[in-house]
Amino acid sequence: MTIKIALLGFGTVASGVPFLLRENAEKITTAAGSNIEIAKVLVRDDAEKNSLIEKGHQYNFVTSIDDILTDSDIDIVIELMGRIEPAKTFITQALQAKKHVVTANKDLLALHGAELLAIAAENDVALYYEAAVAGGIPILRTLVNSYQSDKITKILGVVNGTSNFMMTKMVDEGWTYDEALAEASRLGYAESDPTNDVDGIDAAYKMVLLSQFAFGMTINFDDVRHEGIRNITPEDVDLAQKLGFVIKLVGEIVERKSGIYAEVVPTFLPIEHQLATVNGVMNAVFVESIGIGEAMFYGPGAGQKPTATSVVADIIALSQGINKGEKLLPFNTFTRDTVYAQKED
Ligand code: NDP
Ligand code: HSE
Repeated sequence: MTIKIALLGFGTVASGVPFLLRENAEKITTAAGSNIEIAKVLVRDDAEKNSLIEKGHQYNFVTSIDDILTDSDIDIVIELMGRIEPAKTFITQALQAKKHVVTANKDLLALHGAELLAIAAENDVALYYEAAVAGGIPILRTLVNSYQSDKITKILGVVNGTSNFMMTKMVDEGWTYDEALAEASRLGYAESDPTNDVDGIDAAYKMVLLSQFAFGMTINFDDVRHEGIRNITPEDVDLAQKLGFVIKLVGEIVERKSGIYAEVVPTFLPIEHQLATVNGVMNAVFVESIGIGEAMFYGPGAGQKPTATSVVADIIALSQGINKGEKLLPFNTFTRDTVYAQKED
């Protein structure tokens, strides 16, 4: 059997998907129980299509989503265009066309995830998004599956690869802010508009998703106080070092009596704290729970191959369910009411 997939967008992450499908073909086929075939790739226009063909790509490029939605052979749609629209409309249409969807789009999931998951459930299909938090770290499934017997009390995370990469280069190698941002963009870490990376918005989106997977409840994005790295000065960095601290952009979620509280702020971390050692594009999610105690999950938070690895893991998980003919489990269900606590509770 062959599972046919369609890619929406062919940028940094999407172009890593065929790499993995080719390099790890045998292992992926065995795990999925099927060959995975890229049946169609949606690109923006004929100019992009022709340019990709000239570069030697031999996919069936299409410029209209309808070519994918009306193709009953396509089982899974992989959205890797980013931003809210038209991604939201295309994912909605794909789910309504009874296609499973994989995405890495944390902006969309943090702002509209509950609505999209409801559409998936209504249509008996699944929406998976392991790549949306911390790129290559398999953190979302770990929080759902491996903490079933435990109770998480706090999450701390360095979850934006671009800002962490920039701060590492500026502090350790004396790069300017602009040099560091340009390199993060060149390496494919930054969003096409890097505002969200440097202003703490991307990390705040990830706090919304982590709150769902770690605490079973969702926070409104607007309730996540967030501040980025723009205003950190060399004097701040020097002062921190003299006092035995490093400055990191840290996201925090804690459960309080009335609910959960989340924020993203540049934070003075003692140099001996495990998160203080997370440098460059690396991310880490530090989890405190009543059973395991303290655990840290560490790995590349952005980049083509790490992120595509999480995307392909979702494709395999969906393919396994499709092959068994089973109703696919939702990636997560937020069983508890949405409650937002004050920091002071
Ligand atoms: P890129 O900008 O590299 O790729 C997106 C591609 O989609 C571009 O080629 C873009 O074309 C194309 N595109 C946008 N809109 C359309 C459209 N309407 N029709 C057809 N093509 C379209 O982004 P990334 O690959 O970096 O990111 C993809 C997603 O993955 C985003 O949601 C991002 O947040 C997420 N992500 C990225 C990570 C990374 O390390 N890069 C890590 C984790 C998640 P054009 O250039 O013309 O706009
Ligand atoms: N731009 C994001 C980052 C990509 O730098 O972390 C991964 O979500």
